[in-house]
Amino acid sequence: MMPERWSLAGKTALVTGGTKGIGAAVVQELCALGARVVAVARSERDVQEGIAAWRSAGYDVHGVVADVATASGRIQAVDAARAQWGMLDILVNNVGTNIRRKTADYTAEEYDTIMNTNLRSTFEMSRLCYPLLKLAGRACIINISSVAGVTHLRTGAVYGMSKAAIVQLTRNLAVEWASDGIRVNAVAPWYIHTPLADTVLSDDAYCAAVIERTPMRAIGNPEDVAGAVAFLCMQPSAYITGQCLCVDGGFSANGF
Ligand SMILES: NC(=O)c1ccc[n+]([C@@H]2O[C@H](COP(=O)([O-])OP(=O)(O)OC[C@H]3O[C@@H](n4cnc5c(N)ncnc54)[C@H](OP(=O)(O)O)[C@@H]3O)[C@@H](O)[C@H]2O)c1
Repeated sequence: MMPERWSLAGKTALVTGGTKGIGAAVVQELCALGARVVAVARSERDVQEGIAAWRSAGYDVHGVVADVATASGRIQAVDAARAQWGMLDILVNNVGTNIRRKTADYTAEEYDTIMNTNLRSTFEMSRLCYPLLKLAGRACIINISSVAGVTHLRTGAVYGMSKAAIVQLTRNLAVEWASDGIRVNAVAPWYIHTPLADTVLSDDAYCAAVIERTPMRAIGNPEDVAGAVAFLCMQPSAYITGQCLCVDGGFSANGF
């Protein structure tokens, strides 16, 4: 028997970007631990297919087709959780994107796309969900950052800036909302096999360089991140807030 403190039975969760990669693995993991989930993504077909697969596995998942980089999309997503449950135990801000450029080459539009999708969505979703999380009594937010927000990576400055800002937002919200019973933590992955990362990992030389730089000599899987997210949602992590947990095969510990 699983001890109750290692369970999410009956908990309610909103996961942004829940149809692919890390977000899909998070939905799967939270459901397997007993949570009910609202999963958000832009592609209607992917949302429908995801919901059908999860429901056929016996999971309680609702889908919302919305773009959380926009104000109306965020309201749509949070309204769906409010309509389902009237409160929220868990918010996972997972949506993120990147455009790789030399710093001098970014256009203003590209800067806005990365910042709106990664940072603004995390900031605004957290604020919109705050009243629902407060109602839960004991709730948590998990923000998906990146090791690009902890140290330099070749992924471009704007992505790194957005992910570093997410780590600082995590600290600020953790302190500000601790008295409301809301814990706020971040998870910072290194390379993980997902549709987003596989576009660069398909370059064999690049992939080999990534593996060579990783002490555990492997690319991560979405489940590796989902496990860390689930831990930070559960009772055993009840005294942890304001932290950023790297899921990186030792990458961020690897000096020379
Ligand atoms: N994979 C890695 O190596 C890695 C490493 C470090 C950090 N991360 C971070 O982990 C998070 C997930 O990355 P991933 O690799 O799993 O990405 P992914 O494979 O591209 O999946 C992204 C998911 O988010 C949805 N999505 C994207 N933009 C959205 C928007 N504006 N509104 C609503 N849904 C949206 C996508 O569905 P639709 O396209 O249908 O909307 C999809 O379900 C990101 O924050 C990323 O920066 C990833």
